[in-house]
Amino acid sequence: MGAGIAQVAAQNGNQVIVIDTNLVALEKAKKGIDATLQKLVDKQKITAEKSVEISNAITWNNHFEVLKNCDLIIEAIVENLNIKQNLFAELEAIVSDECILATNTSSLSITSIAANCNKPERVIGIHFFNPAPVMELVEIVPALQTSAATTSKAISIIDSWNKKTVTTKDTPGFIVNRIARPFYSEAIRIYEEGMASIETIDYAMKTIGGFKMGPFELMDLIGHDVNYMVTETVWTSFYFDPRYTPSFTQKRLVEAKWFGKKSGRGFYNYADGAKKNDPESTDNVLLENIFIRILVMLMNEAANALYLNVANKEDIDLAMTKGVNYPKGLLKWADEIGISNCMDILDTLYDEYREDRYRCSPILRRMANFEEVFYSN
Ligand SMILES: NC(=O)c1ccc[n+]([C@@H]2O[C@H](COP(=O)([O-])OP(=O)(O)OC[C@H]3O[C@@H](n4cnc5c(N)ncnc54)[C@H](O)[C@@H]3O)[C@@H](O)[C@H]2O)c1
Repeated sequence: MGAGIAQVAAQNGNQVIVIDTNLVALEKAKKGIDATLQKLVDKQKITAEKSVEISNAITWNNHFEVLKNCDLIIEAIVENLNIKQNLFAELEAIVSDECILATNTSSLSITSIAANCNKPERVIGIHFFNPAPVMELVEIVPALQTSAATTSKAISIIDSWNKKTVTTKDTPGFIVNRIARPFYSEAIRIYEEGMASIETIDYAMKTIGGFKMGPFELMDLIGHDVNYMVTETVWTSFYFDPRYTPSFTQKRLVEAKWFGKKSGRGFYNYADGAKKNDPESTDNVLLENIFIRILVMLMNEAANALYLNVANKEDIDLAMTKGVNYPKGLLKWADEIGISNCMDILDTLYDEYREDRYRCSPILRRMANFEEVFYSN
């Protein structure tokens, strides 16, 4: 992630220093950026001169002292609170009082990272999506202690890097990793129940829903080790809220080291010559049922995030279209299918399963009662 973020910063006119304590990782990152820049030149996306300019704007090091004149540091090291806290303490001893200290963490609380700093008001989450040069979205996550000045400066810097920023409360999963959970977990649940095969579920989400990838294809691409870990972290961070309960099906894949595309096998087989099965059914009623069940679960998450002031409605919709390429913003989409329809579908699921997982967010219930919509035009 660090290399991708460095590339974005350098592409947008900044002098960048990449630090990694592991020289092998540093060399690998440098080669990775050089290869990416060469590809961009080959595809005529940038000129050879621009590529040299970007490459020259980045210097590589394994000592932190060279960071002393930096205005912004974005930490993207191993996802471990203690190690990150120690790094931030080390950085504070080197940098100026004005330097913003940002973390790219996906799952740790920004507040807990800031808490260990002498100047916690300059600490903030700047959360990129992988690959950083390609994905437009960046979540800006002020900690409880972050000053308004730090937040607005971080937003203006990242906006100037041609990214779309959304601001989110420091809560587990921020916007995208929280709201996206049902895309994976409800799809797995439908598969576990035997309602449809993975091929059929993926087909339904792509053909009826317009999603670029089906949930099983996407999980295989992300990697089950990563995807399962995110689900488990969100679930435990929400005090085991059944809405986010991970699945044994995915856990077993992780245990088998069937991580997905990167390991050659996940839900699908990626061995040479392996062929994907066709969906076993293209019955429209079945496809429609699969699609709407996953969709309303996503809408419920989006609505509940709004209800709990995690972010505003525009940022919630932008986050899901730019962070995970959903075909439409979920709240706008909920308006289209009707808030009371969403509520009815969730209530039907709740009545059938009697599981808290399917509880309808109070905001949807209230809006349905008052015939309200998220967007008035
Ligand atoms: N991979 C993703 O898709 C993704 C997406 C968004 C955010 N993130 C976040 O970005 C961070 C990094 O993730 P990653 O997947 O790039 O991890 P990674 O393990 O690929 O890279 C981490 C790098 O940090 C280096 N490192 C470890 N400890 C260090 C230290 N004390 N000082 C300096 N360098 C150190 C390691 O040598 C390694 O090269 C994590 O916080 C993760 O949550 C990752």
